[in-house]
Amino acid sequence: SQPTARPNLVGTLIDEDRLWQRHEALGAIGGTPKGGVNRQALTAEEAVARKLIAGWAKELGFGIATDPIGNMFIRREGTDPTATPVVSGSHIDTQPTGGKYDGAYGVLAAFEVLESLERAGVKTRRPLEAAIWMNEEGSRFQPGCVGSGVFVGKKELEPMLDMQDRAGISVREALVPVLEATPEATQRPLNTPIHAYLEAHIEQGPRLEAEGLQIGIVTSIQGMRRFEIDIEGEEAHAGTTPRKSRKDALSAAVRIIAALEELMHDPDDVVRFTVGRLEVSPGSPNVVPGHVHFSIDFRHPDTKVLKERGDAVERIAVEKGAPCPVTVKGFGTNPPVHFPTDIVDTVRRGAARLELPSMDMPSGAGHDAGLISAVAPVGMVFVPCVKGISHNELERASAADLAAGTRVLAEAMVELANS
Ligand code: GLV
Ligand code: MN
Ligand code: MN
Ligand code: MN
Repeated sequence: SQPTARPNLVGTLIDEDRLWQRHEALGAIGGTPKGGVNRQALTAEEAVARKLIAGWAKELGFGIATDPIGNMFIRREGTDPTATPVVSGSHIDTQPTGGKYDGAYGVLAAFEVLESLERAGVKTRRPLEAAIWMNEEGSRFQPGCVGSGVFVGKKELEPMLDMQDRAGISVREALVPVLEATPEATQRPLNTPIHAYLEAHIEQGPRLEAEGLQIGIVTSIQGMRRFEIDIEGEEAHAGTTPRKSRKDALSAAVRIIAALEELMHDPDDVVRFTVGRLEVSPGSPNVVPGHVHFSIDFRHPDTKVLKERGDAVERIAVEKGAPCPVTVKGFGTNPPVHFPTDIVDTVRRGAARLELPSMDMPSGAGHDAGLISAVAPVGMVFVPCVKGISHNELERASAADLAAGTRVLAEAMVELANS
C-alpha cells in the first residue's frame, strides 16, 4: 500500500465524473420515463440497488454489514482498530414520483469519499462508513426515518418490523429478499457506537440556487408530526338518499381539512401543513363515500407550535367529522434538532479550505441525521437542486454541485476521523 502522508486537501480527490456515473447507474434502478425514480422502501428495486452498491464495495475491499432493521453499512477500516467510526450516509428509498438525488446523493457522496481515499491510499485513524438507512421517506411504510429511528432506539424494533404497507405486506416480510440481495453482509447489532455522523443532501428548496452558492452548512432540522385520519361513513345510493340521512365520509373529510387549514394558517408562512394522501372508498361516482382515509404531515421549527397545533388535530377532526365517527392515529413527534456547533464548524472549515463560499441554513426537510443526533454529534452539507424541486420526477442537480458538496464532506469526515 501507499504512503500515509495526506495530500494537502483530501477534497480534491473526489472524482466528479465517477460520482455522476454512480448517480446515473443507481437512478436507472426504478427509473421512470420522466427521468425520475420510483424505488420505494424494501421493493425489488431497492434489493437491486443494494446489490449494485455492495458490488462496488466488494471491488474496493470494503466491509459490508446489515442490522436487524435492514440498515446497511459499507466500512473502510482505519489505522486504529479500537476507534469508533465516522459515519456518513442517507437513504436509497424514494417517493413514488421521486428523483435521482434525494437520499441517493448522501449515500453516493459518502461512498465516493471512501472510494477516493482508498484509491489514493490515504489512511485515516478512525474507520469510515457509508450508511444506507432503511425507509427514510415513509411513503410505502409510515412513518419515515424508520431505519435510523430504530438504530438509535427512538423507535421500537418489533412494531416497526410489523408495520404493513397498504397491500398488507410487513417490513419483516419485505426485508427478507432485500437482505438476501447482499449475502456477503455480516450482521451487526443496532446502535453500534458512532463517533460523528455527517449527511450530504440536495437542499430540496430554492435558497442556494437563488444565492448562487454551491454549499449550504445545515444548522438545524425543523420538527415534524404525522397523523393518519380515518372517517367512517355509510355507503348509500347517490340518487335517492336525502341529505339528512347521509353519512358522507368525504364531506366530513372536506370539513375537517378546511378546519385544519384554518388551524395551521400562518401569515409568516413558517407552518408546513400537507394532506398528501386522500383515499375515498368505494370510489364510485354514484355511491356516497363510506370511508375516507387521509394523511397529515405537519412541520415547524418550534416545539411549542408543534405541540399546541398538533395536539388540536384530533379534537377538530372528531368535531368537524360528525356525524361520521373519526379516528386519529399519531406517529409521535420528530422534535426539531439543532446541530452541535463544533461539528457545524468542522463542515464550515471544510468548505473554507476548499474556498467554496457557503451559507448557514436550517433544513425544512426531514433527514436521518435528525434521528442519529440522539446518539452522536451530527452535521449536514447541502448542495443546490434546480429550482428547489424535489419529491418530483423533475428533481435535478448538477455534477459540479454534487462534487463540491462531496469535497466538503471528504474534508469534514477526514478531519473528524483523524481526531
Ligand atoms: C422525507 O423526505 C421528508 O423530509 O419528508
Ligand atoms: Mn432525503
Ligand atoms: Mn425525501
Ligand atoms: Mn427527507
